[in-house]
Parts: sequence; C-alpha cells; structure tokens
Amino acid sequence: MGRDRELCQLSAVLSHPPVVVLIEGEAGIGKTRLLRELRHPMLTGCCHPMCEPFPYGPIVEALRVADPPRGLNPVTGALRPLLPEYAHRLPLAPPPLQDPQVERHRLFRAVLSLLDSLSPVTLVVEDVHWVDSDTRELLSFLARCLPDAVNLVLTYRAEDLPVSYPVAAMLANLPPGVGHAEMSLAPLSPEETALLAKHLLPDPPDLWELTTGVPFMVEELARMLAERPGRELRTPPAVRDAVLLRLGTLSAAARRLVQAAAVLDAHVPERALIAVAGVPPEQGERALAEALRRALLRERTPGTYGLRHPLTRQAIYESITPAIRRRLHRRVDTPAASPEGAVSPREDQVIRLAADGLTNREIAESLFLSPRTVEVHVANALRKLGLSSRRQFREHLAKGTT
Ligand SMILES: Nc1ncnc2c1ncn2[C@@H]1O[C@H](COP(=O)(O)OP(=O)(O)OP(=O)(O)O)[C@@H](O)[C@H]1O
Ligand SMILES: [Mg+2]
Repeated sequence: MGRDRELCQLSAVLSHPPVVVLIEGEAGIGKTRLLRELRHPMLTGCCHPMCEPFPYGPIVEALRVADPPRGLNPVTGALRPLLPEYAHRLPLAPPPLQDPQVERHRLFRAVLSLLDSLSPVTLVVEDVHWVDSDTRELLSFLARCLPDAVNLVLTYRAEDLPVSYPVAAMLANLPPGVGHAEMSLAPLSPEETALLAKHLLPDPPDLWELTTGVPFMVEELARMLAERPGRELRTPPAVRDAVLLRLGTLSAAARRLVQAAAVLDAHVPERALIAVAGVPPEQGERALAEALRRALLRERTPGTYGLRHPLTRQAIYESITPAIRRRLHRRVDTPAASPEGAVSPREDQVIRLAADGLTNREIAESLFLSPRTVEVHVANALRKLGLSSRRQFREHLAKGTT
C-alpha cells in the first residue's frame, strides 16, 4: 500500500549495479515488505538482537541458500566450514594460516568471489542496527569492492542504531564506480492507512490517529479489533512488547520522561515534561534528546513533546509502578511544571478535553478529578490565556499556542 514510488525508485537503482543502498525506517514501517515486493534476484540475511551475535551470521544466512556454479575460485573453499549445505560443491578448504588477520582477509575474499560467481545478485542485510562487529567489517569491505553485477542493500532503524555505528557514513567512503542511494520510509498517509485498514477489516474505524500510519500498528490494531469487536482499544500485545523492550534500554532519566508523557497523555512544553518527570533540569535536555532519538517521544508542534505513538500509551502507563505513577500524577498539578503565567500540564489536559466538547463532569471522570477541581482549572486557564469563554479553547489550540 502506498509504496509504488519507492518500489520504482529501488528497482531503477538496483538495475545499475554495483550500488549500495541504505533503507531506513522505524520499526514496522515496511522495510522488509518493500524488499519482498521487489522482483529482483536477492540473497537475504538478517541481523538479530542478541547479546553475543554470531560473527558473519547474516552473511552466512544469505549465502546458505545460494546455488553456486561450477568452477569456483579456489579461495571460496575457505567458506566450506561455514556452508555445510553445499560444502561438497565448493573447492577444497585451503590450509589454515598462522595469522588470524590474514585468514580473515581470505574469508572476506572468499565471500566476494562467491558473490561474484552468483551475479547478477543483490545481497540484502536486514536490521543492521543489530550488526555484530565482524559482519560490520565484512560489509564495509564488500561495499568498497563490490563486483560489477552485485548490489548491497542494508536496512536499519535509525532509532536503534548505536551511536558508534553511523551506517550512513559507509556511503561516504565508497570508491568511484560504486553507486549509492539512501531511502527513508515515511508512514502511510491517512488515506493509505484507511485503505490498508479496509483490506484487513470489513468496517474499520479511523486508525490513523492511533497508528500514525505505521503499517505494523495498523495490522496489529485491526487484528485486535477483529478478535474483540466493540471492546475498549488496548495496546496490541506485539506493540506493547516492542515498546516496553525499547523503554527498558533507555537511561533512567529518559525513561522517566517517557513515563511522564504517558501520564500526561498530551503534548506539553519541554519544561513541563521535565518537571512532571522529576528529572533534574541539567539532565532533562539530554534525556529528552535520547527519548526523541529512540522514537519513544516526538515533537509535535515546535517545542511541545509527547509520546511518539499514542497506541503505546496504555502499555507504558501500566508498566509504571504504582508509587512512581502516584508521584508523576502529583507533579502534573504543580506550578513548577509550567512557567509563570502559562497553563500547567493539567490545565492543558483540561483545555484539550473542553475543546473536544466535554462537560466539566465528563472531564472530571476522564481525568479522575472532582468537577469542582476541573472548574478551577478551566477558570485558571481562561484567565492565563486571556479568553472569555471555553468555546474559545478550540480556536486557541488550533493556533498551537498552548
Ligand atoms: N506498504 C504496506 N502495505 C501493506 N502492508 C504493509 C506495508 N508495509 C508493511 N506492511 C506490513 O506491516 C508489517 C510490518 O512490515 P515490515 O516487517 O516490512 O516492517 P519493517 O520496517 O521491516 O519492521 P522491522 O524494523 O521491525 O523489521 C508486515 O506485516 C507487512 O506485511
Ligand atoms: Mg524488517
């Protein structure tokens, strides 16, 4: 759905080997699917999120299904122990070498030579944000020495890329003669999301707001709706597991910011988010940058931050321990969470619900407050914003000035 342009582009680029292509996109955006839809001879291997990844695992995975021709270069014999699937069709393994570095060079040359014999072909290595250091070295070597009819495609999630591996830098070091391209997959548009949902469900609700156009989320939500029609929407299990796993890898301060965003359930200014999180201001900026880089938070209007995916809110909220949750809720109402004269995060929440047409009683129920407290928040917000009626909240929010 909605990837015709990308498919054409990719197909055109790959038809002029040798090229190195980097495909970037957040989890579930459709990198693997895009490649699957491409009609092109490919050998694919994946990197996996392991504490101790197998050296060269993705390359071995890709090569093990190859169908090598006869008359291979003797150097490919170095791959015999790694490819028992067709070891008998490879030349005899060369004798071991004393120097492990020299032996490694021979192995790299063997991969290069085998790929050359399989050309025209595209070697695809998926999820290089999890690449092990040996494969990473091998990929750099291959990229610089690609045979004439061989392409290399790498996919990755920028949010999971280690700071130590700026994969795009690989393109900077390519020799002349090797082409290169970068592609970044954007979320589906509201119309494309609606069409995808319609493929999956007979009468789907609008899923764009909740999924922000990420196909994986659309599929998971549609599955959930099909299984439990009419029930309250919850974070689908696969989305929950993925987000909690990522949350667990953040620093304590960044994690607290994300938890604060889940409690607030709104986009608020940086200062308010940091105050609700209870993170010391000197750590706040760095923690915010980390949570943004790891795609758990996003900046919506300039200077306001909230959860990147609304669908993850409930999972994050429920993962917060009760004591921390209470503390976060308490801070939502503190004046410290907003600059002098500006609306507090709680007032901001009240304004947004009032702008949606909810009465004070309904707002009170949805935020677990008393109607009297809501009344006070509404009055304070009107005063701070210089408005005379709650009907003006909607217009005020449309200007994006809260
Ligand atoms: N454009 C699309 N139209 C329809 N379905 C799609 C589209 N893109 C992705 N999907 C579906 O969404 C799901 C997630 O896609 P995919 O696995 O390709 O994402 P990914 O970017 O490779 O994610 P990850 O980073 O986790 O590997 C798959 O079931 C896939 O078939
Ligand atoms: Mg994938």
